[in-house]
Amino acid sequence: MSKIATLEIDGNKFELPFIVGSENEGAVDISKLRDLSGVITIDPGYKNSGSCKSEVTFLDGELGILRYRGYSIEDLAEKGHFLEVSYLVIFGELPTAEELIQFENDIRKHTLVNEEMKNIIDGFPKTAHPMGVLSALTSALTAFNPKSVNVENEKEMYEAVCKTMGKFLVIATWTYRKSMGFPLNYYDNTKGYVENFMRLMFELPTGPYKADPIVVSALDKLFILHADHEQNCSTSTVRMVGSSHAGLFASISAGVSALWGPLHGGANQAVLEMLEEIHKDGGDTEKYLSKAKDKNDPFRLMGFGHRVYKNFDPRARIIKKAADEVLATLGVEDPILEIAKKLEVAALEDEYFKSRSLYPNVDFYSGIIYRALGIPTDMFTVMFAIGRLPGWIAQWKEMRENKEPIGRPRQVYVGYPLREFKSVDKR
Ligand code: CMC
Repeated sequence: MSKIATLEIDGNKFELPFIVGSENEGAVDISKLRDLSGVITIDPGYKNSGSCKSEVTFLDGELGILRYRGYSIEDLAEKGHFLEVSYLVIFGELPTAEELIQFENDIRKHTLVNEEMKNIIDGFPKTAHPMGVLSALTSALTAFNPKSVNVENEKEMYEAVCKTMGKFLVIATWTYRKSMGFPLNYYDNTKGYVENFMRLMFELPTGPYKADPIVVSALDKLFILHADHEQNCSTSTVRMVGSSHAGLFASISAGVSALWGPLHGGANQAVLEMLEEIHKDGGDTEKYLSKAKDKNDPFRLMGFGHRVYKNFDPRARIIKKAADEVLATLGVEDPILEIAKKLEVAALEDEYFKSRSLYPNVDFYSGIIYRALGIPTDMFTVMFAIGRLPGWIAQWKEMRENKEPIGRPRQVYVGYPLREFKSVDKR
């Protein structure tokens, strides 16, 4: 028998449907609450509000579980590769060998970016943050690909997906090339997606370039670990913007901006900057732990804490292991890694962090590994964006296919009641 939730307001009882997800998560459906009772709910930061039903990702923050389409993140990171996992996240099933080849080929058809996009890049100062440039360029794709804006059927949706996957990688790397004053590179359709990322970033016209397979494989794993994370800030932004029927590029451009913030994807850059600061300051981790605990100090331990994980972030566990392996294989000895380890041990034993369930998150170790792989610090959040792209696409596609209504929260107004306008000489 289906459960019902009862809400009582001033003696009036309202029955609300109770829904249960496929992993037994319960939710009170309040979609008719205002019609029934005249009141709304309020939940700043949406800590208790589900915005949609979704089949893409399952996350249990208490148990530290993350699954895409039913497959565990541990399994996917170990056995899958990025485009295969992207297909899974976007279309719901692991591709057959033929489907995967077709998908890779269809992405390759869209790896050339309109030359006029270079004029837009030229307008930015070299010092511009790559995430700002990436957001602008992603939005500009709308103008150069108008047919992919209003997708009306499955074929157009598939085309828009492949186009986004093809072009986003290229423009993401262009943001770095611009900042370095290097000529912008072209995708090489004879090579793989992640290998192309390295080439697009680092190949110079002055000499041959060969991407290190260890680096390519580590990056592939990192992209998989970032591929989706259910209704986080940037994904909710993508769904919200898309709910007004803005196109995929415009929605993803908004997602890039949301990801940029240091409380979200921007934390990976902030973590490394914090570790460098601690290193320069003599490596005294206790001092920075005390700062993080001091309510009068705005300093927070970047890479610690998570809105939904109240246990170890499973992605952080995999990345930590990968960081150890990659650094050992590449023979990198990094004092920053030592500081990170010291900080982690100290925080995990500290009452402040324990009582608030603050554990290392995905960003705590990703910066260290990116640094070992030769990725510049202000490109770290762009790396997150490249990895998160399939998730944004999948969630946008699901939202459109489910014909979800426009996202439009309500509010509780706490401002002035009606006031009479006074002319300026009487104020
Ligand atoms: N350092 C010190 N104290 C912290 C930290 C931290 N990193 N994170 C949370 N707290 C404290 C916070 O001050 C509060 O204490 P109290 O209860 O005494 O007021 C308590 O823990 C709960 O924090 P909150 O800010 O209410 O929790 P939230 O769910 O709103 O915020 C968070 C989650 C991720 C924004 C926050 O933990 C944070 O700012 N972490 C640092 C930034 C970071 O690493 N972000 C990356 C998140 S993972 C990547 C992604 O998916 O975006």
